[in-house]
Amino acid sequence: MATQTILTEDEARDLLARHVPLDETWGAHSVTVARLAGRIADALAAAGVDVDPVLARTGGLLHDLGRNVTHDGILHCWEGYQTLLARGQPLLARFCVVHSSGGMDAEEAASVGWPHTDYRPRTWEEKVVTIADGLAHYGDVVFLADRCASVRERYRERSSAARYTLILRTEKKIRALMAEVEALIGQPVEQLCGAKRLHDEGLRTED
Ligand SMILES: [Fe+2]
Repeated sequence: MATQTILTEDEARDLLARHVPLDETWGAHSVTVARLAGRIADALAAAGVDVDPVLARTGGLLHDLGRNVTHDGILHCWEGYQTLLARGQPLLARFCVVHSSGGMDAEEAASVGWPHTDYRPRTWEEKVVTIADGLAHYGDVVFLADRCASVRERYRERSSAARYTLILRTEKKIRALMAEVEALIGQPVEQLCGAKRLHDEGLRTED
């Protein structure tokens, strides 16, 4: 069987654009995640880490593809994963599942009905996309604490207990990933990305 070619960054952008305008809602968020993931990956590469910034950007573009189907906080990750698996893109499909709640271990995955499998980010590319997702509020770059507080606020009333438990853990998980990066690049990731305070007026219903 022929080896499946990984979608290029341009092909990923075209695929995303078929589902959502790139300057609106989750399209803008995806473009911002890709840009930030690329910036963090570039910094890691400059520090001598073996990481592929192009793959990080491509994964960033597609990590939320499942929002084409649903905006449910967990289901959209699974839908994007299945969509990209069906397209023969297992490497890119992983970006959809590993950014869920900052990465779920097997017990956490099972608690929301997923297979009992570890879905935490493993590669540097997966880690930087998961971090970037924590900083990208639509087209804006915000501090992780602000973005997570915004998500907690929006989902408190409409989440199951299992789901909300994961939401409460997300900030700590992403902060741990950022600490891994910062130990190598010698700079706060939020500073590198140009994070700003999030002002909650006009919050929208998707994240
Ligand atoms: Fe996202």
